[in-house]
Order: sequence, then C-alpha cells, then structure tokens
Amino acid sequence: MTPEELIDIARGAAGNAYAPYSNFRVGAVVVGANGETFVGANIENASYPVSSCAEATAINTAAAQGVRKIDVVAVACIDADDVDAAYPCGRCRQIMSEFDVDTIYVGARAGSEIREHTLDELLPHRFKL
Ligand code: THU
Repeated sequence: MTPEELIDIARGAAGNAYAPYSNFRVGAVVVGANGETFVGANIENASYPVSSCAEATAINTAAAQGVRKIDVVAVACIDADDVDAAYPCGRCRQIMSEFDVDTIYVGARAGSEIREHTLDELLPHRFKL
C-alpha cells in the first residue's frame, strides 16, 4: 500500500475516535510483517491518563492477534487546522520500539502533506532489552 493509502485509512480510523475531552481525533493503521493491517483510534477516559493513543490502540490490537513484527505505522489527525502532522508521543514511540517498527508516516487532515520517518529518527538511542 502507498503512504497515501495508509494515511487515508488512518484518517478513516480517526472517525471512530472517542475523544470527548480533547476533541482531537487521531487514527492509526499498522502493517504487520505478513502484510496484515490493523487500525486504531484514540480512546479517551474521564481519568485522562487512562486514555489510549491511536497508535497504541492499533499496535496493541495487532499484538493481541499475534503480530510480533510491525513494518509500518501510519497516523493522522483529522480535526485541527493548525496541526501539520500528528507526530506520535514519546510513549507510543517506545511501544513502536517493542515491535521493531521500521517506517512511520505522519499526516493530518485531508490534503495535508505526508511525512516519512524511521523509528531511529523519532526515537534515537532507544531502550531495549
Ligand atoms: N494522541 C494520539 O492518539 N496520538 C498521538 O500521536 C498524539 C496524541 C491523542 C491522545 C489524546 O486522546 C489526544 O490525542 C490529545 O492529546
């Protein structure tokens, strides 16, 4: 799948976000090593720290289906006009590290540019056991 196709899927997944506190809807899609895809969205909670980012939702869904290597994560937000790209938070970068993500595409609302990064760029000197 192309980066554009993946970011479009992420935007679609953002439509299922549960974000009544931030009103900032984010979607993500992960591509496992066997080519299978899994989507996720941010799911917030009245106890704010309990919330799950879109990337974490998607990655944990993939992992729960047995995926142990993830090649690509694409993430996009759909609400904010002033956000150029929905960069993953630090916690999600560490979650990506656990499943050896290679490539991350970040985007925003329809028509925004898509940026490509490696996990090494986004999380240098990462912690691994
Ligand atoms: N969020 C994500 O889902 N992914 C990101 O990459 C950054 C932030 C969510 C968390 C929270 O529900 C909302 O966006 C505002 O921070």
